[in-house]
Amino acid sequence: MKIAVFVSGGGTNLQAIIDNTKDGILKDIEIVLVLSSSPSAYALTRAADSGIPSVVMRAADYPSREQWDTEMAECVKKSGAELIVLAGYLSLLGPKTVSMYSNRIINIHPSLIPSFCGAGMYGIKPHKAALARGVKVSGATVHFVNENYDEGPILLQKSAEVLPDDTPEVLQKRIMEQCEWKILPKAIRLIADGKVTIDNNIAYVRE
Ligand code: GRF
Repeated sequence: MKIAVFVSGGGTNLQAIIDNTKDGILKDIEIVLVLSSSPSAYALTRAADSGIPSVVMRAADYPSREQWDTEMAECVKKSGAELIVLAGYLSLLGPKTVSMYSNRIINIHPSLIPSFCGAGMYGIKPHKAALARGVKVSGATVHFVNENYDEGPILLQKSAEVLPDDTPEVLQKRIMEQCEWKILPKAIRLIADGKVTIDNNIAYVRE
């Protein structure tokens, strides 16, 4: 299966996918495109280092959001990708891209949805909110993407302990290492194997 990975930042989740295509559970998966919302994203260096084609598409560089959305959908189509993986991608996708890839876009979010998610909950913020609420477990969620932030069907979740002395940064690192870098490649595997169905906004996994 061919996939496109959308990024905005450091790209550690992209790296986890790349590593699994080289020597892990995604050996038959090809990353045909890395699309970044920022020209300075370190994820672009990671793509280049692995010989993966990349493109930067910023809404601000287009005459309208509609045009940006149309060209993005075209770009993914041209790449041949069958699945779009949002791996730390910070922009909200346009309606054309979302409808063209309906049920074929997944996102990783660093909390157990429906906690600490929605507009504005990105980067370190879900972890700050988790500590402020005093939860004892947090984690990560892979979900399908629709027009609204973090509301699509939940595919996979994994929890991690919240420890008494955690700072947001320490919690973020634990959740990346123990949860995100594991469930995002696993979600791609399950979809590639045709083990996921969606009915009435619920994702079902048949192992
Ligand atoms: C991750 O915590 C991811 O869950 C969130 O943004 C962060 C991106 O990290 N959506 P990276 O760019 O993959 O290192």
